[in-house]
Amino acid sequence: MTKYKEKFEKMRIAGSLASKTLDMLIGYIKPGITTAKIDQLGFEFIKDNGGFSAPQFYRGFKKSLCTSLNHVVCHGIPSDRILEDGDIINIDVTAVVDGYHGDTSRMYAVGNPSVKSKNLIDVTYESMMKAIKILKPGIRLGDIGHEIQSYVEEKGYSVVKDFCGHGISNTFHETPNILHYGKKNTGLEIYPGMTFTIEPMINAGKYEVKILNDGWTAVTKDKSLSAQFEHTVGITENGYEIFTESVKGYNKPPYL
Ligand code: MF3
Ligand code: CO
Ligand code: CO
Repeated sequence: MTKYKEKFEKMRIAGSLASKTLDMLIGYIKPGITTAKIDQLGFEFIKDNGGFSAPQFYRGFKKSLCTSLNHVVCHGIPSDRILEDGDIINIDVTAVVDGYHGDTSRMYAVGNPSVKSKNLIDVTYESMMKAIKILKPGIRLGDIGHEIQSYVEEKGYSVVKDFCGHGISNTFHETPNILHYGKKNTGLEIYPGMTFTIEPMINAGKYEVKILNDGWTAVTKDKSLSAQFEHTVGITENGYEIFTESVKGYNKPPYL
């Protein structure tokens, strides 16, 4: 019986609720739905399943999840914006159950997205998974960043630097910061019991972002498309566990 077993059990429950919320939304992501409706569906699903949405109480955000469309990098605020054919959207859910947080996001394609959009989504998903697959005690945070950055830049895309992954457990955002760029063999060594997110934001164009006047919405400066995936993970004695994996196998679009 390890010291962090209880924490991992709670992370598993919160993570699985967040991931089930993203699964549930798949059927609704069609032309015509508003992002506010997506927010409402997520809010109710989480509440009906014994949790609550962390963003609602987070620094005045007020909505229960983030909806980031096309050139929005992250923290898009649900609104009366209607999804249109060809849009790509990231939905980011953070569910709290019994005080612990599960934080996960996926891309969704609305109708028929362009080949360019699909490629960006595929590379972004792959960059997150490549970083997850190297996780084990003794590797360093710079190794995670390096894994993502080297893969993404080789594909001609860029890694957003202004936002990062984060420690997470009984608080939403805790130390350490998990940068999605970096150098091998640098930074903190990771150890069993750590729980954090990996959530690379990848731009089709340049890496620079700016924040809109609402104080939240981050967009690419050059208006290029941006994509993101996020998992909450825990470090075990010899590897890792993904707390937010879809039990239905819904990893990236198309969600067939
Ligand atoms: N879920 C985001 C993350 O991955 C944080 C959203 S904060 C909010 O860390 F207030 F914008 F919802
Ligand atoms: Co996060
Ligand atoms: Co998130």
